[in-house]
Amino acid sequence: MLQDKDRIFTNIYGMHDRTLKGAQQRGHWDGTGALIKKGRDWIIDEMKSSGLRGRGGAGFPTGLKWSFMPKESDGRPSYLVVNADESEPGTCKDREIMRHDPHTLIEGCLIASFAMNANACYIYIRGEYIREKEALQAAIDEAYEAGLVGKNAAKSGWDFDIYLHHGAGAYICGEETALLESLEGKKGMPRMKPPFPAGAGLYGCPTTVNNVESIAVVPTILRRGASWFSGFGRDNNKGTKLFAISGHVNQPCVVEEAMSITFEELIEKHCGGIRGGWDNLKAVIPGGSSVPCVRGENMRDAIMDFDYLRGELGSGLGTAAVIVMDQSTDIIKAIWRLSKFYKHESCGQCTPCREGTGWMMRVMERLVTGEATPEEIDMLWDVTKQVEGHTICALGDAAAWPIQGLIRNFRDEIEDRIKHKRVRPAAVAAE
Ligand code: NAI
Ligand code: SF4
Repeated sequence: MLQDKDRIFTNIYGMHDRTLKGAQQRGHWDGTGALIKKGRDWIIDEMKSSGLRGRGGAGFPTGLKWSFMPKESDGRPSYLVVNADESEPGTCKDREIMRHDPHTLIEGCLIASFAMNANACYIYIRGEYIREKEALQAAIDEAYEAGLVGKNAAKSGWDFDIYLHHGAGAYICGEETALLESLEGKKGMPRMKPPFPAGAGLYGCPTTVNNVESIAVVPTILRRGASWFSGFGRDNNKGTKLFAISGHVNQPCVVEEAMSITFEELIEKHCGGIRGGWDNLKAVIPGGSSVPCVRGENMRDAIMDFDYLRGELGSGLGTAAVIVMDQSTDIIKAIWRLSKFYKHESCGQCTPCREGTGWMMRVMERLVTGEATPEEIDMLWDVTKQVEGHTICALGDAAAWPIQGLIRNFRDEIEDRIKHKRVRPAAVAAE
């Protein structure tokens, strides 16, 4: 369990001054130039030893990703792009960083860019994040004025510019290659990978795309040491982590905790327990809407990290957006609503996703109303398998997995609704 002194994000609830003065009082921008002067190899080695895995959902090791960037320029510039297009349903942790602790991110951008030989960084912020954009831009302006970014940034000898780009409200632009297309002024449609952005990213140049939280924790990791960060969590699941807990808990919140905390401890300590008590817990989506739901009784002792949630429960930590549902929830309808979301957000360029998301949503609609036949459950399962792994980007998987989770965990409830023709005609029409 994390002590207050171990928190990286000391202003996540906006209780303190978020300006440069306040950030410096809380220890940010302390010796940044000296950290940079320790050199690229030292920074990347520390990041590798810290065990930090990407906080945007996929959990790819951050230090390793940085090491894919070319050490010497081949004539092309290198770029850091920060993915602040936070749109995964349930996920609102990066919002709190940008709103209340923006200097943690800007300082991280400078250090990470230097480590990857990038003189420029673009932050792509979600269109709906208007207050956050204002807070972040004000912090960037302050950093320029104080000489912390710009020429000879933070007296490091490194010239560094940072640009904030405001998205236009498409979920798919959070997919890293669609984001790059959008930054280039094109329609936000994912590219085939490989090549990965480190080989050919923004304007065809070497680029690393990192999540906001992944970059914002970098300065503190380097100041306190990789071994401090890797002291939290289990092997392969290290560090502290922001959890965004919503739904049927007594006090929904965003909180920084140690990785590998149990679900029960997380909920009891920070959310005042499950609404109506633990017996009232029905289901949990532990990592944002793209991961399968888990039955409540399997969650209580669950270890909240990448390996346990995937390996033991067939779900995932994803963005650590924990969506809690009690017995009052119509779980079939909840998953149908996600299907509708993915259908709406599909960019439409590959057939299994464009057609499959519509198919899945329509069958889900029949499950909600109880009008489906029992055979349609297996047919729906087959369709999810046709979509999964057969698309250009992860949106296809993200649309298929919640439905697979529903069928795996709540088949009895679906069958019961069909059997007893518990038709709920108003259920879908109301949305
Ligand atoms: P991915 O696993 O394809 O890639 C993760 C990162 O590692 C990427 O930056 C990729 O370029 C890099 N990478 C992977 N293999 C590589 C290799 N062999 N060489 C070089 N680089 C490599 O996952 P993806 O599609 O980037 O992200 C999917 C995740 O995003 C989902 O798990 C979901 O949880 C999350 N997500 C988060 C959202 C949010 O609002 N934060 C929104 C939607 C999805
Ligand atoms: Fe577009 Fe869906 Fe294909 Fe991704 S999987 S590229 S969102 S059609």
